Amino acid sequence: MDDLNLKRLHVAIIMDGNGRWAAQRGLPRTAGHRAGITAMRRVVERAPEAGICCLTVYAFSADNWKRPKTEVETIFRLLRIFLRIETLRLRKNGVRLEVIGRRDRLPQAALRAIERAERATAGGERLHLRVAIDYSSREAITRAAASAIAALGPGRASSFDLLGPYLEQALIAESGEVDLLIRTGGEKCLSDFLLWECAYAELVFLKCMWPDFDAAELEAALHEFHHRERRFGGVPRPDAESTPPPARVYAFPKPMIQSNQSSRQEEHA
Ligand code: FPP
Repeated sequence: MDDLNLKRLHVAIIMDGNGRWAAQRGLPRTAGHRAGITAMRRVVERAPEAGICCLTVYAFSADNWKRPKTEVETIFRLLRIFLRIETLRLRKNGVRLEVIGRRDRLPQAALRAIERAERATAGGERLHLRVAIDYSSREAITRAAASAIAALGPGRASSFDLLGPYLEQALIAESGEVDLLIRTGGEKCLSDFLLWECAYAELVFLKCMWPDFDAAELEAALHEFHHRERRFGGVPRPDAESTPPPARVYAFPKPMIQSNQSSRQEEHA
């Protein structure tokens, strides 16, 4: 890493291109997802030493239920296998795993595996690994707004000064804003992923298919990130180095909500 790597980063990845990677090799799409898991494992291992403290990966969107049943079943089977094989290693490596997204539509066996892995890795402090499953950012924002109305009452929730901090707290208190969003697979859109959290994220779109993403690709994306000037709405600085985000002006009235994402997700179930 170069020495511009001063701040511990929140990196988000849209892991796209598994199906095309497989098709290019004459393999079934599910082979692409299997190779995609291997790529994910590589990135998780490399992340802490690359200066990443929070990594959010998009594994299954709320719209992915539209895929053929067998493909969906395979993705959840792979998830269970991943959790069974990797949980011990994640724990040993100080990785705290958290699944974000809805939980009420997940297959029971996958849900049990997720909860086991979250419990087992809860003490991890080197890397916060967030895996987005059955996730939609618009839905997460809507849910946070609904929970604000329930917690604050409709009158107080209509106050901009109260609603803004509440949503901020609900959506980014624990993970922080996304610094860098990487999308593999050649497409250039956000696909309903972390829309609030990415307000000032730097975006890097790569042609490489997700199963080909490795430590070198990660380094290259981080290198590009570190050489961009982040202005956060300000003017260019003569020394053009990355600037830290401006201090938040919100003051959180207490009590607000539990910051723990999983407790919010339990509201779904
Ligand atoms: C996008 O590729 C990938 C997905 C929708 C699933 C992502 C799944 C993995 C990386 C492996 C599973 C990981 C876990 C933890 C469940 P695509 O299928 O949309 O590829 P395409 O755009 O080439 O069709």
